Amino acid sequence: MTTPRCADLRVEYLTEPIGIGAAHPRFSWTVDHASAGRELEVADASGRLWHHVVSTGASAAPVEYAGPPLRSNAAYRWRVRSLTADGPTPWAEATFTTALLHESDWSASWVRPVQQPALVERWSIVDWIRGAGPEASLEDRLRPVQLLRQSFRVSPGLVRARLHATAHGSYSAWANGERVGDEVLAPGFDSYEHRVSVQVYDVTAQLRAGENVLGVALADGWWAGRIGLTGSSAQFGDTTEAIWQLHLDYANGRSEIVVSGADVRSAIGSWVYAELFIGEKVDRRCEPPGWRVAGFDDSAWTPVEIAGADAGTLVPFSGEPIRRVGELPAISVRETADGAIVDFGQVIAGRVRLRVRDTVPGQEITIEHTETLDAAGDWFDNIAGINKEQTDVLVAAGGDEEWEPEFTFHGFRYARVRGLIDVLVPADIAAVVISSDLDQTGGFTCSDARLTRLHDNVVWSQRANFLSIPTDCPQRERAGWTGDAQVFAAAASNNARVLPFLGRWLDNVRADQRDDGRVTITSPYSPFDAEAAAAAEGIGSIVAAAGWSDAIAFVPWTLYERYGDTRVLRDNYDAVLRWIDYQRLQARAELPNGLVAEELSPERLAAQRLLFNTGTHFGDWLTPSTMEGRPLHEAIGIAPSLTGELVAPMFQAQTLTLAARMAEVLGRGEESGALAVEAAQVRGAFAAEYVDESGRLSVELQGPYVIALAFGMIPGDRVDAAVAELVRLIHERGDRLDTGFLSVPYLLDVLWDAGHRDLARTLLWQDAAPSWLYEVDRGATTIWESWDAIGPDGGVRAVSLNHYAFGCVDDWLYRRVAGIQPAAPGFRSVAIAPDLASGLAHARAHVGTPAGRLAVEWWLDADGATVTVTVPYGVDAVLEVDGGTIPLPAETSTHILQLDRAVVRA
Ligand code: BGC
Repeated sequence: MTTPRCADLRVEYLTEPIGIGAAHPRFSWTVDHASAGRELEVADASGRLWHHVVSTGASAAPVEYAGPPLRSNAAYRWRVRSLTADGPTPWAEATFTTALLHESDWSASWVRPVQQPALVERWSIVDWIRGAGPEASLEDRLRPVQLLRQSFRVSPGLVRARLHATAHGSYSAWANGERVGDEVLAPGFDSYEHRVSVQVYDVTAQLRAGENVLGVALADGWWAGRIGLTGSSAQFGDTTEAIWQLHLDYANGRSEIVVSGADVRSAIGSWVYAELFIGEKVDRRCEPPGWRVAGFDDSAWTPVEIAGADAGTLVPFSGEPIRRVGELPAISVRETADGAIVDFGQVIAGRVRLRVRDTVPGQEITIEHTETLDAAGDWFDNIAGINKEQTDVLVAAGGDEEWEPEFTFHGFRYARVRGLIDVLVPADIAAVVISSDLDQTGGFTCSDARLTRLHDNVVWSQRANFLSIPTDCPQRERAGWTGDAQVFAAAASNNARVLPFLGRWLDNVRADQRDDGRVTITSPYSPFDAEAAAAAEGIGSIVAAAGWSDAIAFVPWTLYERYGDTRVLRDNYDAVLRWIDYQRLQARAELPNGLVAEELSPERLAAQRLLFNTGTHFGDWLTPSTMEGRPLHEAIGIAPSLTGELVAPMFQAQTLTLAARMAEVLGRGEESGALAVEAAQVRGAFAAEYVDESGRLSVELQGPYVIALAFGMIPGDRVDAAVAELVRLIHERGDRLDTGFLSVPYLLDVLWDAGHRDLARTLLWQDAAPSWLYEVDRGATTIWESWDAIGPDGGVRAVSLNHYAFGCVDDWLYRRVAGIQPAAPGFRSVAIAPDLASGLAHARAHVGTPAGRLAVEWWLDADGATVTVTVPYGVDAVLEVDGGTIPLPAETSTHILQLDRAVVRA
């Protein structure tokens, strides 16, 4: 028997974090034993600060710090042990440090290199559709990266040095020539109007007594660069600035702070330009040699301007930064008359690292990026649009060079390299994958290579789109579309520990919420986004939308279900109520266009006054049948106009229901009751208005039926009829799905729960478009925005190959195929209910629950099936198979069950 112990100690879900900004950090750990309580201590250098005893048995829910206020920039130790029947377990120990917690901690000034402001380029969706765009050359429109340099002295006896830094722009920093930290594109994307994240780096080992140099390179980033679908620039500001504070602690107890200020000097170096979307151009001949280290003469550099000392928008960064998370070798290199085409075998977000030998000074090497070639295998740009060049340029200084761009990334699988003198050697080029560096806690494989590939494709799309914020796609827009995150959150939570990442994004969503309660369709939402919406018509004018804005309720609720942490509910509950308020007011004030001129009965009018069914919405976005046979920009408006009015009140009702559940968890019983009543009234009004006597909806499309059934919008006596209608619609489409963004997450569950298990399986196994396996059969390595991005004839369309929204089916693979069904918040209990009749011979999956790793594996054999379940301590598990429930006793962690043939049936 092993000694019981506490393990995997985390603060705010991170291991040994530095720079924690929460006033009441959450402590969590796992246990492998029964206990009657837990003891936790937090200490700083001067001793114990907080002692906390929990007198209940094991629970994986985090413990919130409630000791004396934590100090800024301080180091803490903490330890935990369990109180078992045999006495306490040994202590398990860990550390964390804090960020600068208060505005008053900042004495630094924002420093602004003297610069030509970024060119303000503003484009509309109409420009985008028309293919308009800038005419001047990139060199004329883009501007160089600014280098900043500060030298400072460090006295002997340094024991600790922490750099707190951020920028309006994107920055990289070096201490004495060595890169500070391993983050990419700091400070990441936030709703900068309201919040700019500050990074904390431990630079103790990089400093020494005597003269030291801090070098910073500052690019436009998301702040001043060209972002979003329209590629409009300077959406938050047109000048870049940085701010930092270096805290030095000495052995003798003395402390010093070096701040960004008037002594910082700036110049332009080798970056001709560095654009997040367009790409980067570096002229190696212009690199000032040694600018990052001591001894460099910066007298010719320009003193920076002091841009003010306002630290009001600074917030400690939380969650995981963007990092280089992997590297892919070239799987093939093909020389063409037009350059070498390199295939990395996988669509990613990232960039290329290239080694070139024997260059001549001034030799120009360009690297273009695309996600797919055309049907003939020739170069094809699948991402068209304004400022979407995705092209990097190296101007060599001569000799051998190695290069990876610093301030840009691209969505690609293929790169085309031009300007080389010699043939490109595959070993000289690699794709560097970048992503927010989340713990990858899940996995799924099965006996069918195509389904396994489907899962892998989802993981790759998640990796590429969990990049600072959850985005729609990593090439065309990179926008924090709230709807996309809403539909994908559950699937995402199986694959990675997403709570800190999505929690931070929700901080942005709340910061962007309008005064009237509207939750914006993207977050971060720039001031330009607001202006553009005000100036546009139709879809372009949308600020808040059904299913998108509802992310404010759906995402926190999903996170609560998967992690059992109530903080995310507490943080977002008020914002949910404000969004509900907005819907309520709209419902009272407006009638759908079709009814305005009608004489309505008092009952009908009363029902209408409850329904949020006006305004422009995306509806069941990208409903396949509405997209067929029309150019994309024409087709995209059809699902919104057909389904918007129906979808909006359904999401209104479900958000009310989720708000009621949140209120209940948060101990606000009365509010919960009132919200639940209101939800029922909205459902009643919806049924009266939109569901006819035979269970039919006013729109004959699969999506609205799926949502209506999933959200309980159909009165009980008409549910069977509505299901029959949905089944008919599916058969009518040749057993293919016709669901858009908002409905697709519920499609298979709705069929399954209504007893149409075989039809759910048929849709999963369907391989004619639109279907998940159709894409896999066409060689997809990620999830596509359009089901038929590559047509049956191999024809390639210029659409995104990396949109995770339709990949929400991955949740089904974990929950239904492998059978890991969370049964209580945070997996406190779980039902293992594998679909042994799925058509597979074998499946295996694991997820990271708050209590630890939970895994299921099953095989069919001649006698029946074998199921192996590994349950972390503290999780109640049962195995559910047709014909019954088998408890999995908590004393053992691994259960091997032999099931006879009778259970392996549909
Ligand atoms: C994005 C989507 C997004 C949508 C809004 C698109 O351009 O790529 O994923 O949710 O707009 O309907």
